[in-house]
Amino acid sequence: MLVAAGRGERLGGDRPKAFAHLRGRPLLAEPLSRLEACEPIDAIVVVVPAGWEEPSILLAEELGASKVRVCVEGGGTRSASVRIGLDEVPDEARAVLVHDAARPLLPHGLVECLLEALDEGYDGAVPALPVADTIKRAADGIVSETLRRAELVAVQTPQAFVTAVLRAAASGEGSDCASLVEAAGGRIRVVPGDERLLKVTTNEDLRRVEAWLRAERPE
Ligand code: CTP
Ligand code: MG
Repeated sequence: MLVAAGRGERLGGDRPKAFAHLRGRPLLAEPLSRLEACEPIDAIVVVVPAGWEEPSILLAEELGASKVRVCVEGGGTRSASVRIGLDEVPDEARAVLVHDAARPLLPHGLVECLLEALDEGYDGAVPALPVADTIKRAADGIVSETLRRAELVAVQTPQAFVTAVLRAAASGEGSDCASLVEAAGGRIRVVPGDERLLKVTTNEDLRRVEAWLRAERPE
């Protein structure tokens, strides 16, 4: 599942973030074609902003992304969009991957690595990077706690889950899917993430992703 239904308020611009231009194509084209090329993925559900279903279907056709089953209108939060997308995932699907369209540079081999963790018996798997900064808990400008950095990771997407486990946990709200599965007692495996899996939030992020893409595919 590709969640692309956000408005992209921090990016600004005249269209939702998934349709911002990345090297002359809608940003969505990059993660979509990378998921399409992933051998273990059988079907893709794309969750898009209201009114963007048609352009999304046309884009999938243009890219030859034949695994795209449906483009559906998302909800008011990421978690709501995931729930809407999950309704389109059949029970026969053993595993489901949830990926942010805002992270265009899905690295080769990551999906396979996440699915291996499910084969090992984990309920879910997430890519993560160590954190460089010291992280403190603070409210109203006052520090209450310093967290042990060695135990902290910064988590990315795609996140992989046993379909039934995510479905059972998906009623809550969280900034990622794994937090919902964790709250339900699920065991989540961490696998190595990638710096280039950066989530495009600001225009500066978009430029960085564009530069990485240019290095990968000079045209
Ligand atoms: N997302 C979604 N539905 C929402 C909100 C977010 O599908 N209601 C998706 C976004 O499209 C994005 C991912 O979740 O791919 C991560 O969200 P974020 O980076 O916050 O994107 P936006 O919400 O679009 O950006 P902003 O918060 O700046 O408006
Ligand atoms: Mg958001």
